[in-house]
Amino acid sequence: MPETNEALHDRFLALSDPPSEGSIVDLGCGAGPALAAFARRHPKAQLIGFDREVESLAKARDRLRGHSGPVKLESADLREKFPLDAASVDAVVSSNLLECLPDPTLFLREVHRVLRPGGRMVLSHSDFDSLVVSGAPVELDRKVLHAFADDSPPWMDSSDGRMGRKLPGLVAASPLVRTHVETLVTHSAELSGHAARRVGDIRGALRSTARRGCGRVDTVEVEDWYAAVQQADAEGRFFFAEMAVVVAAHRV
Ligand SMILES: C[S@@+](CC[C@H](N)C(=O)[O-])C[C@H]1O[C@@H](n2cnc3c(N)ncnc32)[C@H](O)[C@@H]1O
Repeated sequence: MPETNEALHDRFLALSDPPSEGSIVDLGCGAGPALAAFARRHPKAQLIGFDREVESLAKARDRLRGHSGPVKLESADLREKFPLDAASVDAVVSSNLLECLPDPTLFLREVHRVLRPGGRMVLSHSDFDSLVVSGAPVELDRKVLHAFADDSPPWMDSSDGRMGRKLPGLVAASPLVRTHVETLVTHSAELSGHAARRVGDIRGALRSTARRGCGRVDTVEVEDWYAAVQQADAEGRFFFAEMAVVVAAHRV
C-alpha cells in the first residue's frame, strides 16, 4: 500500500488537473510535500505555498529548489484574506489545515475568490475522531484517542477532530460547486511507516499538553497506552487505520 502522502498527492494531481504551466496554491503547505508532487508531474507549473510557520517554509524552499517553473513560498495567516488577486489561480489544494481555522467558511469564500472561473479546489482532512489504534485496553484507548482528537496545541487557533466528516457539508454550503467526495483509508498491521508516525504524534502531543497542565490524560496514562500499543505490535495484535476525506469542487 502506498504511503498516505503518496496516495493523497496522486489524488490531488488527478482531481485538480491543472494546466501544465498553470498556477497551483497549497494553503497550509507545511514543508511542501504536495507542491513537490506537483513539481514532479508539472515541471513548469507556477507553485505557490502559504503557511504561518517559517521553519516549514524553509524546508519547502529546499525541497522545491530544482523546480523549473516559478515558485513562491510565503508566510501568511490563512485566517485572513489570502495574499492573492481575485480569479488569479488555476488550482488550490490543502490538507489538514481547516480544523486550525476558527472560521472555515471564510477560508472557502477566499478560495472561491482567488480561483479562476473553472479553477478547481481539492481539500483533504483526516477525521481524527475516528482513528483506530488497536492495542491498549478499551477504556484507556478511548480516553487517549478522544483526548488526541480534541487536543488543541498552542500552534492551532482551534481544533476539530471531526473536520474530516464535516468537509463535504462545508464545501456544499460554500460558493464553490462540489463535484466529488471520497475517502482515503491508510491502514497497517505493523507499527511502522505512517502508523508509527501517527502513534508518535499522539504520544508527543498528549505528553506536551499534559505537561502544560491541560488536556484529559496525564503523562502516565499516555505512556501506559504507548507501551500497550508497542506490546500489541510485538505480539502481532497491532492494527491502525486513519480515514482522510477528500473533497473536490470548482468555481463556475
Ligand atoms: C497538520 S499541518 C499540515 C501540513 C501539510 N498541509 C501536510 O499535509 O503535510 C497544518 C499546517 O497548517 C499551518 N497553519 C495552521 N494554522 C495556520 C494559519 N492560521 N495560517 C497559516 N498556516 C496555518 C501549520 O503551520 C501547519 O504547517
